[in-house]
Amino acid sequence: MKILVAIYSSFAGWNIPDSHVERLRREFPDHEFLHARGEAGVAPLIAEAEVAFASELRKHHLAAARRLRWVHSPAVGIGGMLFPEMVASPVTMTNSRGVTAGPISEHVIAVVLAVFRKLPLAIRRQAEGIWAQHEIAADPPVRQLSESRVLLIGLGSIGAAVARKMVALGARVAAIRRRTTAPAPDGVEVHGSDALHGQLSAADVVVVTAPQTRATWGMIGAAELRAMRRDAIVVNVSRGKLIDEAALASALRDGTIGGAALDVFAEEPLPPDSPLWRLPNVLITPHTSWQRTQHWDDVTAQFAANLRRFEAGQPLINPVDKTAGY
Ligand SMILES: NC(=O)c1ccc[n+]([C@@H]2O[C@H](COP(=O)([O-])OP(=O)(O)OC[C@H]3O[C@@H](n4cnc5c(N)ncnc54)[C@H](OP(=O)(O)O)[C@@H]3O)[C@@H](O)[C@H]2O)c1
Repeated sequence: MKILVAIYSSFAGWNIPDSHVERLRREFPDHEFLHARGEAGVAPLIAEAEVAFASELRKHHLAAARRLRWVHSPAVGIGGMLFPEMVASPVTMTNSRGVTAGPISEHVIAVVLAVFRKLPLAIRRQAEGIWAQHEIAADPPVRQLSESRVLLIGLGSIGAAVARKMVALGARVAAIRRRTTAPAPDGVEVHGSDALHGQLSAADVVVVTAPQTRATWGMIGAAELRAMRRDAIVVNVSRGKLIDEAALASALRDGTIGGAALDVFAEEPLPPDSPLWRLPNVLITPHTSWQRTQHWDDVTAQFAANLRRFEAGQPLINPVDKTAGY
């Protein structure tokens, strides 16, 4: 069987290392692994491939694919590959759900504690050699997670990992998800989307972990920001387009909400003229919440486990509902 590996990006961290493609070749000597290192390399190689381990496939790639049956994404968010022809096609899609839940949940804990404990201000004053005791003690107050209510929008692999850590730290945790009767971590109050505004008004911290789909695009806009507490913090580790960025910048500037920790943006890299760069109550990370040393080991191992299942005709792990978009 021919398997196309097409995982490439201008950001090196999103490229599968050659060593891991070699690892797959050693583990599956009966299959031929074709490796495309850029978009132009995909069309000629995909024609005979039955499987694609791919981060981006375009409409013309699908048109060139004569034998494609299954696409596995090294990411979780695969919206860019869900163009109408792919959704309508019989190609099965799976993703790498779960691989980034550990680092991203630690990242969420880190940024919420950093904002609650006013660490960005302490770091700025340290660089200036200033003893900022009065400034840090002034309003807004330093806060404690165990006295807080956290609302997760999305309770999938990342949301559930954040929930477990928040519960362990003593926070009260609620979540909004689509399937309200699906199993949830202990101690988490689960609601459907109809409860969004009521839940937003009760939360000290709002963490966005839902996927980017037609239903979630812009789901946090001016009205949702107005529903939040004036001291609420918004954390986005999902996709930038779930939040109306202009409305968010206004809400942060005029005190409608207290602060934000943002890892993802509508446009990446975040343009230099974005007002978000200059707001003192915003903590920006450049889409790095997922990073850790074992990332590609685990992504490759998860694909290999799924390939064994594919070979055996067993149900694949992490299937994507192409119509729902995640
Ligand atoms: N920052 C990064 O580097 C990074 C890395 C990985 C992933 N991500 C992003 O994070 C997203 C979540 O990842 P994951 O692994 O947690 O995905 P997941 O396991 O598929 O979970 C998605 C969750 O969102 C919920 N959801 C879907 N549509 C919704 C809606 N309309 N309203 C409310 N909740 C909704 C789902 O509800 P049900 O449980 O009811 O189905 C599920 O709980 C990905 O889609 C990706 O965009 C970002």
